[in-house]
Formats: sequence, C-alpha cells, structure tokens
Amino acid sequence: MQILESPQGRFELARFPLQEKDPLRAWDAADEYLLQQVAQQYAEGFTGRLLIINDGFGALSVALSAYAPVMMSDSYLSQQGCLANLQHNGLTEQAPTLLNSLQSPEGKFDLLLIKLPKSQAMLEHQLLQIRAHLHKDTVIIAAAMAKAVHTSTLKLFERILGPTTTSLAKKKARLIFCQLDSALKPGDSPYPKHYTLEVGEQEYSISNHANVFSRESLDLGTRFFLQNMPEGAFKTIVDLGCGNGILGLMAAQQHPQAEIFFVDESYMAVASAEENFTTAFAGQTRASFEVSDCMTNIATGSVDLVLNNPPFHQQHAVGEQVAWQMFADAKRVLKQHGELWVIGNRHLAYDIKLQHMFGNCQTVASNKKFVILKAKKR
Ligand SMILES: C[S@@+](CC[C@H](N)C(=O)[O-])C[C@H]1O[C@@H](n2cnc3c(N)ncnc32)[C@H](O)[C@@H]1O
Repeated sequence: MQILESPQGRFELARFPLQEKDPLRAWDAADEYLLQQVAQQYAEGFTGRLLIINDGFGALSVALSAYAPVMMSDSYLSQQGCLANLQHNGLTEQAPTLLNSLQSPEGKFDLLLIKLPKSQAMLEHQLLQIRAHLHKDTVIIAAAMAKAVHTSTLKLFERILGPTTTSLAKKKARLIFCQLDSALKPGDSPYPKHYTLEVGEQEYSISNHANVFSRESLDLGTRFFLQNMPEGAFKTIVDLGCGNGILGLMAAQQHPQAEIFFVDESYMAVASAEENFTTAFAGQTRASFEVSDCMTNIATGSVDLVLNNPPFHQQHAVGEQVAWQMFADAKRVLKQHGELWVIGNRHLAYDIKLQHMFGNCQTVASNKKFVILKAKKR
C-alpha cells in the first residue's frame, strides 16, 4: 500500500491483484494532476453527475467518491482494484457505479474525466460511445503521461467531441481540455472490426472489439503458435488471456470432443472470443467464457491443457508479473501430466521461469523471434 496525497484527502492505494512489496504505485502523476485540477475548478464543491473512464486502480474513484461517480472500464483488474481500494479506505458506502466497456451509462454527465487508454482505437471508440452522454456545458478533462499525448490524440478529440487544448506538463503528465461541439457528426464507432483468418481450406471471420490485442490482423506470435498446436487427447482446454480467442478456436477445431474455457481480464476480449466461437461453431462444441483474473474461478487439478500468449504490460506498466501469475495459476489448475504451452518473444526467457516452477520445460518450436515452450505438471 502506498499513500496518495491529494487535495481531496489522503488515501492508501494498491494495485490489483495485491502483491507483497509491489514497487509500482496504483496511480500516476496524471491522476494527481487531474485531482488537483478538479479541486481547483470545483473549489465550491460539485453537485452534478461525474463519469470517470479508465480509472487505473480506482485512484480517481476513491478520491472523488463523495461525488458518487460512474466508473467505466474495460478491465476487470481495474474494477476489482477500485473496489478493493474503496474498501480499504472505508468508502464502501459511497461505492461508485461500475460499468464495463460494453455497457452504456444512462443520461448525461456534467463532468467527464478520462485517463487515456493505451490504444488509440479504444480512445476513438470510447469518445464516440460517450458523446451522446455529454451536453454543451459538460466539463471534459482527459489526462495522461505527456509521452502518450500525441497530435493524433488531440485530433481525435477535436474530430469526435470538439475544440481541444492541452495544459502545460507537470511531473511529465499533461491534461487535455475539450468542449463539446454539438454540431459535429462524427458517426458511429467502427468497432468491432473484422478480418478473415485463413487456416488451410477453412476461413474464419474474426471480430475484434476496440481494446482487443492485435485487432487489425493476426499477431505474428499467435500465427506461429497456430502452426505448432499441441496434439493429444485433451478433454479440458483453457485459452488463458484469450484476446479474440483464436487459440481456443483452433484448439476446438482440432479437439472437437474437448470443452474450451476462454478467460481474459478484458470485457471486450471475452466478448470478441465468444462472438468468434459462436460464429465458427454455432453451439456444436462446448465452451465457456469468463472475464476474470487469470484462472481464479477454475478448479484446482481440473484441466488437461492451458494455451497462453502472456501479456507483457499491465495497463501502462511493462513487466513479467502477469506472466508469472499465469504460469503459477496454470500449475494449480492442471491435472497431473497436464500441459502448459506458452509462446513468447525469445528475449523474455520464459523457459527459465517455467523450468523453475514446473521442474521441466521443453522447447517445442522456435524461429528468429518467438519460442513455444511446453511445461508438464508432474
Ligand atoms: C498477448 S495477448 C494474447 C491474446 C490472444 N491469446 C492471442 O494470442 O492473440 C494477452 C492477453 O492477456 C490478457 N490478460 C492480461 N492480464 C490478464 C489477467 N490477469 N487475467 C486474464 N487475462 C489477462 C490481455 O487482456 C490480453 O488479451
């Protein structure tokens, strides 16, 4: 736990899932800047409706909980982090209304605070989605670390919402101020977008919501994984961190008798995986779809095969922590002799960690960039 000192108060905050001695903070200088701006702008208090989008681990929702915000996010971890931090600070009575990225808020808002998402596609989608919930006097303030604020970011705000300006940088963070121009007609969100995946003779239509990994085309690593899929009599398969679900989709194609579990912490990812699976198999194969933190809800010792292309970011922070958590969780859910197959960039050296955790690790295939590893539960 670390302490956020803000004009709204002092709050103890942690990232989610909680880790001992986590060196990373649950907020950044852009959150601090935003909170200072809100305090300055509403020195007399705020009585309107507040919408917060992409709050990392609840720093904004906790500090502004007195304003009963609506908090929207595509991330299950962000939502859980927000709830845990509210609880830790004794603010559960004032819990914000949590909405995921596929839900629409009701009515209009008087103050909109946005932390910029990692992808421009997601920002485009969110601005288009939220436009109808703003009025001409809505105060719109976005925030990010200055390196993430590009000319193209500002153009997006101008095209979709209206006139846009930026603040000076403070502790390397920047604010974006925008005013709704009701006359603009930016159209509807172009997401989900589709591409066609060809595997042998077969063609699959792949739908991708705005925040999905590799949403424009098949990721090179995933492509290499598809060329080297596991063979065997697997009855229960998990596509861990499923994104648009291509690995699980192909596993279902090769193992029609198996039940496939699709898991991701992104609501948009799980929705895309479900759409893609339903389009390909129309209910002929058993599958379930869950938004969760790794495999928290999958029983210990119940799975034959875990397929995993781990992330190397959690929000804006780069790190291996999520990959390690995924491997540890795979070891827990696998049956004896069950297999974890992992693809990663060579330089990530996942083999060392897998060898350490499982006591074995075999290289199944490799090329210049990627390596596919297999670890067996003993
Ligand atoms: C590198 S992408 C792989 C996506 C897909 N499997 C593929 O190969 O195209 C990693 C995925 O892990 C998901 N993820 C990140 N942290 C997670 C967590 N704690 N629990 C479940 N999924 C997570 C991300 O949302 C992302 O979709």
